[in-house]
Amino acid sequence: MLLTQIDHVAIAVHDLEAAVGYYRRAFGAEVCHREVIERDGVDEALLRVGESYVQLTTGIRPDSPISRFLESRGEGVHHVGYRVEDCAAALEAVVAAGGRAIDDAPRPGSRGTTVAFVHPKGSFGTLIELVEEPPGG
Ligand code: CO
Repeated sequence: MLLTQIDHVAIAVHDLEAAVGYYRRAFGAEVCHREVIERDGVDEALLRVGESYVQLTTGIRPDSPISRFLESRGEGVHHVGYRVEDCAAALEAVVAAGGRAIDDAPRPGSRGTTVAFVHPKGSFGTLIELVEEPPGG
């Protein structure tokens, strides 16, 4: 089994502060990591849930994938991040199994991770992110 954990469930929201406040009031959740990823055009807040995270995310410019998702689909679950030991090997395996790579090769993600996305088409409707922890992380 190449997947070792659910790393995160990513939820696209219009108002990140409002969503963080809601998770705080409802569940006592605290933000453990906050990051703007310029390359992807997203602002995200990670809330720890056991060994995993809920990732609340919003777009910072109209052409970002999250902004386009919010525009067409509205708020909701955007992707599932699966933790893997070796992102490149997992990407190779998923493509060999008929999955469609969005990233041809692993690339930097948030928190110093190495990630690769797999298209929902070919993965039964779910956008998948393969997440390799940073060394020692
Ligand atoms: Co993600």
